Amino acid sequence: MDQIVIRGGQRLKGRIPISGAKNAALTLLPCALLTDEPLTLRNLPRLADVDGFGHLLNQLGCSTTIEGSRPEDFGRVMTARATTLTSTVAPYDIVRKMRASILVLGPLLARAGEATVSLPGGCAIGNRPIDLHLKALEAFGAEIELASGYVKAVAPGGRLAGGKFTFPVVSVGATENAVMAAVLAKGTCVLENAAREPEIVDLCNCLVAMGAHIEGIGTETLTIEGVDRLHGATYRVMADRIEAGSYACAAVITEGDVELVGAKASEMEATLAALREAGATVEETKAGIRVAMSGRAQPITLSTAPYPGFATDMQAQFMAMATLGTGASLFTETIFENRYMHVPELARMGCDIQVKGRTAVVRGVDKLIGAPVMATDLRASMSLIIAGLAAEGQTEVNRVYHLDRGYERLEEKLQAVGADIERISAG
Ligand code: UD1
Repeated sequence: MDQIVIRGGQRLKGRIPISGAKNAALTLLPCALLTDEPLTLRNLPRLADVDGFGHLLNQLGCSTTIEGSRPEDFGRVMTARATTLTSTVAPYDIVRKMRASILVLGPLLARAGEATVSLPGGCAIGNRPIDLHLKALEAFGAEIELASGYVKAVAPGGRLAGGKFTFPVVSVGATENAVMAAVLAKGTCVLENAAREPEIVDLCNCLVAMGAHIEGIGTETLTIEGVDRLHGATYRVMADRIEAGSYACAAVITEGDVELVGAKASEMEATLAALREAGATVEETKAGIRVAMSGRAQPITLSTAPYPGFATDMQAQFMAMATLGTGASLFTETIFENRYMHVPELARMGCDIQVKGRTAVVRGVDKLIGAPVMATDLRASMSLIIAGLAAEGQTEVNRVYHLDRGYERLEEKLQAVGADIERISAG
């Protein structure tokens, strides 16, 4: 298995291109199932999860072609076309490897009137149920059965009737599935307490470009008036606000100065506010966002929350940044249980972090020392990279396939701003 080796202590300086957003890509790709015309997505990140989703689309009868892509370019253009669906089943083998496969449920149900998707099961960051996905679809008229580890959803008469659903807790994935199911309904579908993440705005904008009628985009109430059919479109995937925030943390911990090219400040205000709280200079530039730091980070207090709150996907990276802070920082994780798996690994590098239930107290130490560490999930892995960039000596990050799921050519981007980082291929 590949390993990433970092010799810490280099100040990051320069420009970092920000890729298309993984989480937006994973909800835009299944939109191709909603029409028999081609959907062309630009600025798709080159990531293992995006490739995996392409394979899932192929299994369902949707062709995918990649155009004009040179290996040295970031991002790709993919055209997906589901002229006719040949299957409505997302099998266990695929869903188990990629949780986001559950996002084909809504579009298959909308287009074919039925869908069978393997239950994703637990995952490393805690028990992640899909009950809200199913309840929203039921509220729109779907009949749902669970058998042999699969969810089977059917729209009586081949088409969802419409209805109203209020989410008891905000869920990104369930909102996405419900919106994709609703766009081809016979009637009107209303979602209350819907997630408002920028990736959901991206999804809605793409669906509108395909002919959907959606009101309330970017708010917690989405009203979707079903249409008889959708058409093809060309759509550019938004910039990855989590990737941008991750590199911002790397800039702060190395007392660097980077420009996050392509990042949009309006989509990551809570992250930028936290960077400023830590003492960083953050400013919008023509091309993106500049983050610069001199001296050690000041202590921060962060609590994760649905958008526009502080993203749970940024918690591990900020925690790494706080390990070299001037005092005690306080973190509260409210979205997922068991999302502190990076803590024991960071401890191997000399961090002082105490976890009690959902809170973690990080006391800044004077230095981190490089160590062999193990990546446990995507964002946890990035926290180890961030700590490694500032640690004395060598850090070896193992199990880097987690990083490949969500960071496009991480080591190249960091090398270009002065990091001493390399990937050692297992061959
Ligand atoms: C998405 C993101 C993930 C991010 C998360 C929260 C993708 C591919 N993944 O995950 O990176 O960390 O949003 O911003 O976009 N819940 C239920 N029942 C459900 C669904 C969710 O109880 O049916 C709970 C979850 O256990 C969790 C909370 O709701 O406690 C939020 O989860 P959700 O927003 O659904 O996360 P994902 O869509 O899985």
